[in-house]
Amino acid sequence: MKKILITGGAGYIGSHTAVELVKAGLQPVIIDDLSNSNRQVLERLKELTGQDIPFFEGDCGDQALLNQIFGLHRISGIIHFAAYKAVGESTENPLKYYQNNVGSLMTILSFMKEKGIKDLVFSSSCTVYGQPDVLPVTESTPRKDAESPYGNTKKICEDILVDMVKSEAGLRVISLRYFNPVGAHSSAKIGELPLGTPNNLVPFVTQTAAGIREKLTVFGGDYDTPDGTCIRDYIHVVDLADAHLRAIEYLGEQEMNFYDVFNVGTGTGNSVLEVIQSFEKVSGQKLNYEIGPRRPGDVIQVWADTQKINKVLGWYPKLSLDESMRDSWNWQLAIGDK
Ligand SMILES: NC(=O)c1ccc[n+]([C@@H]2O[C@H](COP(=O)([O-])OP(=O)(O)OC[C@H]3O[C@@H](n4cnc5c(N)ncnc54)[C@H](O)[C@@H]3O)[C@@H](O)[C@H]2O)c1
Repeated sequence: MKKILITGGAGYIGSHTAVELVKAGLQPVIIDDLSNSNRQVLERLKELTGQDIPFFEGDCGDQALLNQIFGLHRISGIIHFAAYKAVGESTENPLKYYQNNVGSLMTILSFMKEKGIKDLVFSSSCTVYGQPDVLPVTESTPRKDAESPYGNTKKICEDILVDMVKSEAGLRVISLRYFNPVGAHSSAKIGELPLGTPNNLVPFVTQTAAGIREKLTVFGGDYDTPDGTCIRDYIHVVDLADAHLRAIEYLGEQEMNFYDVFNVGTGTGNSVLEVIQSFEKVSGQKLNYEIGPRRPGDVIQVWADTQKINKVLGWYPKLSLDESMRDSWNWQLAIGDK
C-alpha cells in the first residue's frame, strides 16, 4: 500500500485528507507537532477510518525525526500542510512564520532529495493573488505583492518549489491554491478548531450562534459588490481534501521534473450576507450581526476559475454552500464551547 506522509495531518484540512486517502486505499502517515491541533483528532480518525493511522508527534522541520519515520515507513509521497496560518500574528511576528512555513518546506525538500521521494503536494493559497484585477482568477493571473508575512511565505514556498523542480532532484510537485475552506466532516467527528478569536468568517458565525461570541461584525457593507459585502469562494473541506487525493494520484502518472499549480475553489463567489443567510436557513438560528466599518487590508472580492483542475485532475466540488454551513454548524454543536 502506497504510504503518504501528511505533515500537519492532525489539523483541519490534513485530517479530512487523511480520511479521503484511507478511503482510496492509500496509507497516510501523520506528523504533527500539535501546535494548532490535539491528540483527540487521532482517535477521531480511527473511529472514522477503522485504522490506527501511524502518528508521529513532532516538528516536520526536524530531519532526524523525518529520517526515523522513513526508517519505519517507506514513504512514497508527501502532502505538506504543516504551517502557521494566522495572518495577524504573522504581521506581529514574521520570523516565526518564515521559520516555520519556509523553514519546514526546505527541510522536507532536503529530506525528499536524500531519500529519493519524488512526489509533493503543497498547501498554497489564493492569498497569492491579492486583489486581482480580473475575476475569476485563473492560475496564470499574476501574483501580487503579499499583504502579510503569512501570504509571503506561500509565495516564497511556491518559488522554492519551482526552482527545486528545475534542479536535478527530479521532483514532481503540485501547489494547490485553496480559496476559503469551510465545513467539516458530515459525521461531525473532525472539523476546524480555531484557537482564540477566529479570523475566518464561518467559525465566527457558528460561535456567535452558539453563544460563545455576542455578535458578528461584518467588516464593511459599502463595497462595490451586489450587496455591499466582501465576496469569497467557499470550498467544503471534504471536497478540498479530495483534491489532494486527485493531485497525489496525478503526480504518480507524470514524468520527473514536473510542477503545476491548481486553484481549488467552487468557481462561485458568495458574499458575507449570502453566507449568513445560508447559515440561518440550514441551522434555523437567527444570527446576531451588524454591519461595521471596513477592515484594512481586506480583499474585496475573489473567486476561482476552476476549469484547469476540472479538466486536468477531473476534480469537481460536490458540496454546496448550504451543505458547508450545515456541516460547520453540526461541528460547532459537537464541540460545544471549545
Ligand atoms: N484554512 C485555511 O483557510 C487555509 C487557506 C489557504 C491555505 N491554507 C494552508 O493549508 C494548510 C493547512 O491549513 P489548516 O487550515 O488545516 O491549518 P491547521 O492549523 O488546522 O493545520 C496545520 C497543522 O500543522 C501543524 N503544524 C504547524 N507547524 C508544524 C510543524 N512545524 N511541524 C509539524 N506540524 C506542524 C499544526 O499543529 C496543525 O495541526 C496550511 O499550510 C495553511 O497555510 C489554509
